[in-house]
Amino acid sequence: MKKFMIINGPNLNMLGTREPEVYGQLTLTDIKNYTIENLDKQMVNTEWFQSNVEGEIVSKIQELAKTSDFNGLVINPAAYSHTSVAIYDALMILQIPIVEVHLTNTHKREEFRQVKITARAAKYCMEGLGKNAYLMAIKTLLL
Ligand code: DQA
Repeated sequence: MKKFMIINGPNLNMLGTREPEVYGQLTLTDIKNYTIENLDKQMVNTEWFQSNVEGEIVSKIQELAKTSDFNGLVINPAAYSHTSVAIYDALMILQIPIVEVHLTNTHKREEFRQVKITARAAKYCMEGLGKNAYLMAIKTLLL
């Protein structure tokens, strides 16, 4: 059994009502359910965490650094991707592979989204896959 932590940053709890023309109609729970449904439950276990608070995300990553229970981390730091040295520093502590995901293709978006501080700590970075982002990230970690 492989176990993966999935961390989501600010405003991702508002998916579904948040700018649906950009992020689509699905809620984070819809995407979580879709991801789990498409994984083999005998083989893969996922734990999902979302926070709007930078320090809570840092603490969650630190918890992850202290256990050997997880085989990888999938993180969508959301807006903190572009600003957070604290999350980057926490990610750099981890020994397990990290995939940074973004639902949208930020390369097609505003200038301020072009800086990716946290992605420097990731082994893989996947953008613009929408609801498939987490599924593809986990499948990548399983390869
Ligand atoms: C996002 C992209 C970020 O620029 C933005 O701040 C988000 C969501 C995405 O998944 O496309 O909140 O991470």
